[in-house]
Amino acid sequence: MKGIILAGGNGTRLYPVTLTTSKQLLPVYDKPMIYYPLSVLMLAGIREVLIISAPAELGNFERLLGDGGDLGLRITYAVQDEPRGLADAFLIGADHIGDGPVTLILGDNIFHGPGFPDLLRDAAQALDGCVLFGYPVRDPERYGVGEVDDRGRLVSLEEKPERPRSNRAITGLYMYDGDVVEIARGLTPSARGELEITDVNIEYLNRGKARLVDLGRGFSWLDTGTHESLTSASLYVQTLEERQGVRIACIEEIALRMGFIDAEACYRLGERLSKSPYGKYVMEIAAPAPLLRAVR
Ligand code: DAU
Repeated sequence: MKGIILAGGNGTRLYPVTLTTSKQLLPVYDKPMIYYPLSVLMLAGIREVLIISAPAELGNFERLLGDGGDLGLRITYAVQDEPRGLADAFLIGADHIGDGPVTLILGDNIFHGPGFPDLLRDAAQALDGCVLFGYPVRDPERYGVGEVDDRGRLVSLEEKPERPRSNRAITGLYMYDGDVVEIARGLTPSARGELEITDVNIEYLNRGKARLVDLGRGFSWLDTGTHESLTSASLYVQTLEERQGVRIACIEEIALRMGFIDAEACYRLGERLSKSPYGKYVMEIAAPAPLLRAVR
């Protein structure tokens, strides 16, 4: 399974903060926003990731993450010269995807919840068509919306409907089989001139190959689109991290736990950041306290 992080767009709702930087590089408490979607792909076992962003921003992502080798990943980069829609990711990423399965995640989507790694792995293993992830929200009209029948099967999908048929938003995490590039190539742009991901999903639904996995209560899918929601997301991460003493979306820790890198490599990654609490945490994860003393 390949991965794509779509991290373009102009972030206009966050102006002036995003006048000179990409939204997906803004901090969410103690780390850049893109760490969160990257950690989701890593937890799904994905090691080959394409990051797509605007021409002026791509270099910053590259400076941050390099070729991914330090994390046991292979990260490549591609430009989206203007925001032509989420499904444009499959046209830009066609060579990266080849004819195999792919997971697309939006660079500004934050997921956190119990059992998430298992849920991701199960969804990837059982993939036959596409898997969408639904989440109950108060304001479904702002999202793609999925309707299910009384047996929990997906029966309709609409993009930002005026009168939503359910409160189930379709989140910015999507898994597809090898047909997705061909489906994206057949799309016509919507009224707002974009290649809509919801049209890709409707095509899978029409083929009887769209499955919905509900992220239930107790799960967090956080918005980062406005100053208020971005601050709330930071406070959410801070609250959990301070209370539990663990870090959410620490990519070095995930690389270690997934077996992508060994403890020594992880320790070295922490050392580079050792002036920050984040860096110290990475070093401690790699070498638990008694060992750490011996290393020093
Ligand atoms: O967040 C989930 C929602 O994402 C889904 O429920 C909707 O079905 C889906 O259409 C999308 O809705 P948004 O209104 O959030 O889409 P937006 O145009 O804001 O783009 C989402 C992110 O993707 C944003 O950070 C910018 C980036 N983006 C967007 C477009 C259109 C790109 O990188 N390239 C693009 O061409």
